[in-house]
Amino acid sequence: MLVLHNLMRWVILILLIASILKSFSGWQNKKAFTKEDRKLWLFTLISAHITLLIGLYQLLFGRFGIFITTLPEGTKLMKDKFFRFYWVEHPTGMIVAIILITLGYGMSKKMVGDQKKFKKAFWFFLIALVLILATVPWPFRQIIGRPWVPGI
Ligand code: HEM
Repeated sequence: MLVLHNLMRWVILILLIASILKSFSGWQNKKAFTKEDRKLWLFTLISAHITLLIGLYQLLFGRFGIFITTLPEGTKLMKDKFFRFYWVEHPTGMIVAIILITLGYGMSKKMVGDQKKFKKAFWFFLIALVLILATVPWPFRQIIGRPWVPGI
């Protein structure tokens, strides 16, 4: 599960960056919204929701899950960098990002002009990307850092 959760990060990042570039180009070049645009946004949404489900499982039942682990004696959640990150910062940041991705995808169904679809989705996706980049446990981060890909 954790291996899949780790790898899904790359799937989301690739699809999200592609969605951002395509919606920016559609907005700036006044393009028509196509089936391919909708498909790309849909795959971005699906990958984010799969990662959300695996993340929720990790948070509750994973090796550091809320139902599996107890905080070390005398440790306060918000004072412990490791648990604050994995129990609060990472889930909160990612859930907000996934809500934004869902709102971005929702623009494909809104009865508004194509330029508005592209423009709004662009901003939703861009803010989601910033949040994801800020709350991934990158290997260079102290204490909470995790591998780029499983095992490396
Ligand atoms: C875009 C969404 C997300 C991305 C890109 C992402 C990315 C990651 C990455 C790269 C790791 C490290 C994996 C490893 O150690 O190899 C991780 C760990 C973890 N994630 Fe996420 N995550 C996302 C969403 C979530 C959500 C929504 C939750 C909880 C509701 C969550 C909970 C966790 C937990 C608890 C761990 C630590 C698991 C453990 O070490 O046992 N993640 N995540």
